[in-house]
Amino acid sequence: MAEIPKKPTALIFGGLNTCSRALAALLVPINGDPLVSFLRIVDKYSVVPPTTYIGAEFPKILEMPQVEYRQANLTVESTIQSMFDPPEGHSGFDYVFDFTGEVRHDRTEMIQINNTCKVAHMLGREAAKRKAKAYIRMQLPFYETQTKGTHDEKEDAKPAGTIGIWWHETLRVLASIEDLNLVILRIGFIYGPYTPFGVVASGINVAAVYGYMKKPMKLLWSPGKNANNTVHIDDIAGAAWASAEWMAPLGRTAANQLAGEELLFHNDKSKVKEVGEMPPHNVKPVAPLFNLVDDSESTLLSIGQTVTSFFGTTFDFFNLVESTVFKFMDDLEDINEQHVGAWTDMLMNSNPPVTKTPLTAYMDKYALEKHVVAFNNAKIKAVMGYKLKKPQFNHETIKEVVDKWKAEGSWPTLA
Ligand SMILES: *[C@@H]1O[C@H](CO)[C@@H](O)[C@H](O)[C@H]1NC(C)=O
Ligand SMILES: *[C@@H]1O[C@H](CO)[C@@H](O)[C@H](O)[C@H]1NC(C)=O
Repeated sequence: MAEIPKKPTALIFGGLNTCSRALAALLVPINGDPLVSFLRIVDKYSVVPPTTYIGAEFPKILEMPQVEYRQANLTVESTIQSMFDPPEGHSGFDYVFDFTGEVRHDRTEMIQINNTCKVAHMLGREAAKRKAKAYIRMQLPFYETQTKGTHDEKEDAKPAGTIGIWWHETLRVLASIEDLNLVILRIGFIYGPYTPFGVVASGINVAAVYGYMKKPMKLLWSPGKNANNTVHIDDIAGAAWASAEWMAPLGRTAANQLAGEELLFHNDKSKVKEVGEMPPHNVKPVAPLFNLVDDSESTLLSIGQTVTSFFGTTFDFFNLVESTVFKFMDDLEDINEQHVGAWTDMLMNSNPPVTKTPLTAYMDKYALEKHVVAFNNAKIKAVMGYKLKKPQFNHETIKEVVDKWKAEGSWPTLA
């Protein structure tokens, strides 16, 4: 007879480019006791051989006996259903971590509907049908909060752009699945080891280039007091696990009573007819929602100062009035060319030379736009008792990131 495993089983969907590898490393560490008896990770990429950057640590995790990776197309419902079939000796999956969603800003609305909204809907429905004890949805910071102050979960943050509208709609869709043991983590700007994704990674990279050129790094949006709250990838993993452990004994009804928030409509009303998964505009689905950011209350200015001082240079702004900024955005290709050129120099002058790296000094339109994301993290601390592992964005946390990139050969080592 098969032994009944005491530790929970877990499924992670998507996020190979963002957060799933860090969560896998927490659930099944290379050295130490695993938190789960079985972990299945599902994404669209191949990992052997990798068709995307996966970092030096993840291949070792994939070799652990408790870990299984499945390459799958999650837009197909029957595929999703089969991913929930448990391995032999297990009765089902206890915890589901949903890191899916299209993260590229240049994708069309149709792609957002298909790959973010509909995929999550199919995953949520299947997880509810299979009675998963917890379903943790990660919500990236595609919002613009009010300029002043910090904002708790009761405040209605405005989704930013097409990507923001559909990521937010996805929360409403998931929250409308009544039996789904859903917890939503609404995070700040991610950074951390083996994570080339996001505006903070771009900032670290470009600051290194300015340090190398011995020039001050200049950005738009003076005076830079706009909040760009940050969160370390270890805390995304830690809080995802804490959320599952919090939800499992409670169930959705009790969890809603403790931490439920209304998810308000921010879409075009005509879309409700078009996208059958969407709840009507006047419905306000309720789900447990938690902000997840570190304690540093990062702003554009504080991030800029922290990364540039780490690389021995300074941070400054172009002296422009906002009305000329938009014309100026067109000229940024030239500046990007300088960044990319200097970064290529750094890679070639490295000892040993860096021939392959996921990192780029190119700043895309999103990285250059002004963002205001100020979330208050008091609720997750109070309700779950969550304690941040990396509460500050500082030289120490940047050093860890850069050192790990150096060690795996993704970052230049210059004499
Ligand atoms: C995934 O499945 C959809 C629906 O069948 C299909 O249109 C798409 O091309 C598939 N994607 C890949 C990468 O195979
Ligand atoms: C989105 O899904 C619909 C219905 O399955 C399909 O007809 C359409 O081609 C898809 N579009 C994109 C851009 O993926």
